[in-house]
Amino acid sequence: MKRQKIVVGNWKMNLTVPESTITLEKLEKEIQPKKVEVVICPSFTDIYPAQKALLGTSIEVGAQDVFYEDSGSFTGEVSATQLKGMAKYAIVGHSERRKNFGESDKSVAKKAAACVRNEIVPIICVGETLHEKMEGLTKLVVSGQTEASLAELTGPEVEDIVIAYEPVWAIGSGHVDTPLEAKKVIENIRNLIKVLHGTKAAESVRIVYGGSIDSKTLKGFLSLDLDGYLIGHDSLNHEDFAKVVRMVEDSIAASQKTLKAGKKKPVKKKK
Ligand code: PGA
Repeated sequence: MKRQKIVVGNWKMNLTVPESTITLEKLEKEIQPKKVEVVICPSFTDIYPAQKALLGTSIEVGAQDVFYEDSGSFTGEVSATQLKGMAKYAIVGHSERRKNFGESDKSVAKKAAACVRNEIVPIICVGETLHEKMEGLTKLVVSGQTEASLAELTGPEVEDIVIAYEPVWAIGSGHVDTPLEAKKVIENIRNLIKVLHGTKAAESVRIVYGGSIDSKTLKGFLSLDLDGYLIGHDSLNHEDFAKVVRMVEDSIAASQKTLKAGKKKPVKKKK
């Protein structure tokens, strides 16, 4: 099954509304993605202006979080119901939220379910800390987070979500995971989903990598044919982010060309 590749920019708590509008105007002049889905996740304050700025382009808007209730007395929270129609995607369970705001797997699961019932695609983040990696616990930790974070979704719902494998130690550190290690963890996640939610979910779910990806570190990943990337720091600058998107688009074009050439190869007749 061919899954559409996706590149997500996570702006975190950066850029004011005027700054982000200018960045998006520049970005949409630089890229017109056709082969890869591109999503920008700004702060809540900027979701509506970003949606307006990107109208008529193929760049989508996402949120960086949602609350799991649809409405009510939850001061300071923003629900998926409120974001419906404005954000196509929402990141949930980012390690910065898990670490700084005590986000548990249980609330991540509820947030993912809130996204799905409000027609928002959750991008569920999982990943191990450096200590856990050193202790050889990566598989255990990531499997545990994945299983618990998907607990409130059905198999058909899992088919359409995105999972982001982001080793915590790689986020914002400049230390990217080795591409083969990242691929191994991603394969483990897919195998787990097969066991928990069935073959169709495992084959359809997109699993991306995140953590210190930029145009330099991306080079080592492109040949692995991952489903995409979640990019923090490098997405804040329109030129840097556009470069990454173009590199992913070019790699898709190159592999499509190779595939086509392979199909056209004349079959040698036996004498
Ligand atoms: P980074 O952040 O690209 O700056 O490492 C990634 C993320 O936090 O999603």
